[in-house]
Amino acid sequence: MTEIPELKTTDTASKSITRRRFILGVIASGGIVAAANYKFISSAVHGQNSSAGERLITINVNGMQRRVDVMKQETLAWTLRYKLGLTGTKLGCDRAECGACTVLIDDVPHYSCSTLTHTVRGRKVTTVEGLASADGKLHPVQQAVVDTQGFQCAFCMSGFIMSAVGFLKTNPNPTRTELAHGISGNLCRCQDYNKILDSMMRGAEYMRRA
Ligand code: FES
Repeated sequence: MTEIPELKTTDTASKSITRRRFILGVIASGGIVAAANYKFISSAVHGQNSSAGERLITINVNGMQRRVDVMKQETLAWTLRYKLGLTGTKLGCDRAECGACTVLIDDVPHYSCSTLTHTVRGRKVTTVEGLASADGKLHPVQQAVVDTQGFQCAFCMSGFIMSAVGFLKTNPNPTRTELAHGISGNLCRCQDYNKILDSMMRGAEYMRRA
């Protein structure tokens, strides 16, 4: 009689564990490579690896005097996010194309990824964290975004809000076309522009009523 070979469950299990470990290893090493690459690019661009050459400066952010060590080539987006903890300012392209990093400097929208931090000394920087009033009441444009659920993934949202707030300071009663033109320096990867414009127009209306 032919003997049926015994099923080697432990071998199967160990192979499966090995395979799982292998996949995890690939993912982990990919993550490490990606992280290392990002760190390399970041340090090359922003000089983050070296504290040598940093200078202590004071900048006005959201109405507060903030003292911070910065490199001469350090961008405002980097300082805001990684040194002052103001992560509402997003970094999308990091090369003045998408507008995710938009902040107000003296009430005018600017790409903070393309603004050197030391150049804003003596000027007033406003980020999305600085829009709400002291009692926590949202800015009308922020409230309109909440009310209309005007975004999909919302990564670009704070940049759009800052651009709209800046534009509405110069034109509080815009047509839809004017507002679209006013925030045309901002891109949405989900391409939900109609919904975004709906919420920004609602924000303009809330501002006029306030
Ligand atoms: Fe500054 Fe895209 S991150 S414009």
